[in-house]
Amino acid sequence: MGRMNEPPRLPEGSFAAWSRDRLALARRGADECGDVWQLEPGVYVAATAEPCEAVLRRAQDFPKASSPLFPPLKRSSGAPTREERARAHAARMRGLRPQAVAARIGEIAPTAARFADQWPTGQDIEVLPPVRHALAEIGVSYLFSEDAPTLLPFASQLFLAREVLVRPSRWVWPRWIPTPARRFRTRQQVAFINALQPIVRRRRSSGRLGDDMLGQMLRPSAHYGLLPEEAILDTLPGITVATFETPSRAAGWILLHLARHPRAADRVAAEAALLPADPSATTSTDLDRLQYTQALVREVLRLHPPSWLLTRRARRQTQLAGYTIDAGSTVLVCPYTAHRDAREHSDPDQFQPERWLDDSGSPAKPGVFLSFGTGPHGCEGAALAMAMLTLLTAQTARHYHLSEPPGPEPSYQVTTLEGLATVGLRLRATLRS
Ligand code: HEM
Repeated sequence: MGRMNEPPRLPEGSFAAWSRDRLALARRGADECGDVWQLEPGVYVAATAEPCEAVLRRAQDFPKASSPLFPPLKRSSGAPTREERARAHAARMRGLRPQAVAARIGEIAPTAARFADQWPTGQDIEVLPPVRHALAEIGVSYLFSEDAPTLLPFASQLFLAREVLVRPSRWVWPRWIPTPARRFRTRQQVAFINALQPIVRRRRSSGRLGDDMLGQMLRPSAHYGLLPEEAILDTLPGITVATFETPSRAAGWILLHLARHPRAADRVAAEAALLPADPSATTSTDLDRLQYTQALVREVLRLHPPSWLLTRRARRQTQLAGYTIDAGSTVLVCPYTAHRDAREHSDPDQFQPERWLDDSGSPAKPGVFLSFGTGPHGCEGAALAMAMLTLLTAQTARHYHLSEPPGPEPSYQVTTLEGLATVGLRLRATLRS
């Protein structure tokens, strides 16, 4: 017997469609059931702006499951305490907040420019590997500046370990079983930390802490003094991969849109022509002037949020959008459908970067935007991500017309498993005259 006040569900048998086309089923759920719907018993989907934002903000009622991809290593000296982890988080945020990113645009821009310079012209190439490489260089340099070259190869291995871990498999092994993928992950994590530890010790003993994000974590705080070394080391494998993993998925969608919308690409190119000739002279003021480019990046992230489905658990029985959610149930937050709700964005399926600009061409906020999440677990790297993606987009459009390989079939597949991304995307660049 159904309970009163339960969120609606799709007709019997619809769940089978989930494994075939998750985006289509998410849209169908939102269209037919509304704000909150039930995917299967105990699994709810927040489909529109209000319940999505409510779930993400109410972190007490809907905590984020803690299943870090790179869990803290077991050590004889003991794991960092909860409090030390919270302090490490605060220290990290000092290095990632918008003002910190703004101060370092001149370091980010040259790698974005070099990526564009080196794009081989006149041939179809698979785009994501070189994009990922460029973004990893930017991200790892942002965290570790002059120590980045030492750490970059280890960061690539961490990325590989992540790819192997999230690959769909027929079995879900209990967490304590050391599967080959998990052993590979732990080996790469240990290798990264072993490479990082002497850097941390050298910086501390020399007193030259650095102006990068690691430097922020090494600075003593007036309240609690120094962070223990373990608390610094444990947090960094995950952050290091985060600096380029999701951004490269986003970049795939952005470059595809530049190819499909040449007039929008022309507008980006016109803006980018005003950037300083020497990329290292680029400042946050220059970045702020790329308003159309930023709007384009935002619009692509609206249509294709790389993190299109976020997972939470209901800690206790609670209400959401007037429905009762049982304790222990899973609540999926779906930015993808929230972004394609006509009450939030007019012509929601249309690519219209202008919707993020007001009449005078300044930034405007027309409706919900959850690509970076919101609330206490909102994306820590949003400012860094916007800066690197905007510069990469501007530099690419400034130099080239992009096009998709001819033919009836798209040159890529779409995956929805670990984020919404293109797989195997191929594009061709020709020099702008
Ligand atoms: C286009 C690029 C990016 C997108 C779309 C993105 C998206 C997101 C989203 C949606 C969340 C919230 C997840 C949730 O609520 O469950 C998140 C969290 C996070 N992001 Fe990003 N992200 C991007 C780039 C970055 C970068 C460059 C960093 C680098 C530091 C980063 C670091 C993090 C971290 C550490 C969290 C976890 C926050 C927490 O759980 O408290 N992200 N990101």
